[in-house]
Amino acid sequence: MNRFRQSALLLPLLASFLFLTSKAGLEAKSANRDSVNQDSANHDDAVAAAAFEELVPVLRNPRCMNCHSSGDYPRQGDDMHRHTMEVRRGPDGHGLNAVKCSTCHQDHNLPGIHTPPGAPDWGLPPPSMPMIWEGLSDHHLCELLKDPQQNGHRSVAKIVEHIHTPLVLWAWDPGEGRKPIPSSENLFLSAVERWAAHGAACPLEKTK
Ligand code: HEC
Ligand code: HEC
Repeated sequence: MNRFRQSALLLPLLASFLFLTSKAGLEAKSANRDSVNQDSANHDDAVAAAAFEELVPVLRNPRCMNCHSSGDYPRQGDDMHRHTMEVRRGPDGHGLNAVKCSTCHQDHNLPGIHTPPGAPDWGLPPPSMPMIWEGLSDHHLCELLKDPQQNGHRSVAKIVEHIHTPLVLWAWDPGEGRKPIPSSENLFLSAVERWAAHGAACPLEKTK
């Protein structure tokens, strides 16, 4: 009888122990599955790389390249000639000595042709991180944009944020006499977001 009573007492204990452990196990499993889902549901290298390719024609447009080309000076025009008047990058990207960008460039375009265009924070990236993508392949351009050592210490989310700033969006409304980016601003912004949301993979280096 003793044995019978013992097991009668033990059984419910054992049952609830089994119930609790399996419940915890299930919870852990489903939590695990959720986090995997979050990554893998959206993470898609092919989609991300394709989205990046959509950005490339904009990134290489003269409106952007005039500030993202080699040299210690900005460029001008569709032929990307060297900025006139001896304008230089300077130690912080905002000009050298008395010739600051803000001497001429305001936070908005000035009316008329051949007047200085403008947007908030008009300037070049600093010489310590010049963000030059002239001459880079699509693959390397993408790697540069993502590299915190070269992109102003930005996470991918911060790049997306930066791309929404008036300085970048200026290129769709660059002032009289200048060609705006020919493709849609909204398509560009949605491609940036798609690239980031799917894991920000880079296109592969093309082999020729
Ligand atoms: C007047 C000069 C100027 C123009 C025009 C310009 N940029 Fe920039 N860009 C900068 C400066 C300055 C920075 C660095 C800002 C900082 O670090 O705070 C920058 C940084 C960036 C970055 C972040 C750096 C990186 O490597 O991830 C991206 C992306 C970028 N620009 C894209 C563009 C695109 C796209 C265009 C054209 C649609 C454009 N820029 C036009 C000056 C310019
Ligand atoms: C002495 C005045 C002056 C200074 C200083 C100056 N700029 Fe300019 N910039 C101009 C004028 C004027 C234009 C327009 C030229 C035109 O449209 O023919 C211009 C045009 C530009 C353009 C060309 C935009 C395009 O896509 O064609 C860029 C980029 C630019 N400046 C960047 C800079 C940067 C960066 C600095 C500081 C490092 C700077 N500028 C300093 C007067 C100046």
